Amino acid sequence: MSEIQNRFQDLFGTAPEIVAQAPGRVNLIGEHIDYSDGFVLPFAIKDVTTVALRRRTDEVIRIASLQRSHEIFEFTLESLSPLTGEPWTRYPLGVVWVFSELHKLSGLDILVDGRVPLGAGLSSSAALECSIATGINELFDLRIGLADLARLTQRAENIFVGVPCGIMDQSISLMGRAGSALLLDCRDLSSKNIPFDIAPENLELLIIDTQAHHSLVDGGYAERRASCERAVAELGISSLRDISVTELLNRQAELDPVTFIRARHAVTEMARVLSAVTALEARDFAELGRLLNASHASLRDDYTVSCLELDCAVDTAIANGAIGARMVGGGFGGSAIALISKDDTATITAAISGAFKKAGFKAPRFFTSLPSEGAHITERALPR
Ligand code: GLA
Repeated sequence: MSEIQNRFQDLFGTAPEIVAQAPGRVNLIGEHIDYSDGFVLPFAIKDVTTVALRRRTDEVIRIASLQRSHEIFEFTLESLSPLTGEPWTRYPLGVVWVFSELHKLSGLDILVDGRVPLGAGLSSSAALECSIATGINELFDLRIGLADLARLTQRAENIFVGVPCGIMDQSISLMGRAGSALLLDCRDLSSKNIPFDIAPENLELLIIDTQAHHSLVDGGYAERRASCERAVAELGISSLRDISVTELLNRQAELDPVTFIRARHAVTEMARVLSAVTALEARDFAELGRLLNASHASLRDDYTVSCLELDCAVDTAIANGAIGARMVGGGFGGSAIALISKDDTATITAAISGAFKKAGFKAPRFFTSLPSEGAHITERALPR
């Protein structure tokens, strides 16, 4: 038995029926445009959340986490309603809740082992939601496809947890493929795997967790979404996907200055994603780096979702030889990525640590990851 199966047995007194896991993500490019029907280019990272599940004969839901001193939280299916429970339990409960709206479920025992760094902007929440969804889908033989699982888990986060996220994080956690980034069309969730094979070029993607978490995160994200919705309404279009960069520039006078620069970020970022795919397919990493830098400048200056720590990480990486760098995820803290030569890893990480120390920031953490596999079942003890 695996570690999580043993711990499940110790806590709940019986073995789990199934073990599922789902990864966190980084986004190469395509930031803050998933909720505007844009294209995004994320990949699944190697860090995963693993969950063990067992169906019960009653309607009780029991949840525990290996990261939370084994306390068991107990609910019933009937009592589930948005925003109830300890904040972290809302992610798994929200997923149970969205499934229970559509299918007759029994109670469940659930044990979580979350190994995606928390608060680093690497989507530990999507990893948790998608591991639970993958487990329930299999356990109750629901045969729901990946795009619908992404929509369900996003709904769990939007309604039950109360976070107005887009669809990117859940989609990549479910659909990721080892060796590839995922070109995802957020309008219809169609996708294409784009090989991201940088090792032969002696390159690596450095992930820099700034360890900064600013309190404006929640309001700031919702406010940016609202700006995009306002631009769409005022321009009389159905989404920012439907307007070219040139057309937006021609219609600048129809928008107030802030709404205009928010929309300019969205439409230029959508164009950069497609250029990045062309660059990757041509193995033109210098061009990819240029696009990463342009994405960061747009997020910093037009969308204003960066922060001092993210700018410091990006600027220091570039000043010390990175080919390109940018913030990833929602912003206001979390992580940045830098495309670097492997030969420069030590210099760049030392320079960033030094710059953070000098600025009086918390010490940053560094990771690397190649594109890894999306959510899947790892152990099964079902009668087949
Ligand atoms: C967060 C959200 C995503 C996406 C990114 C920004 O990670 O969960 O849906 O909007 O921010 O690209």
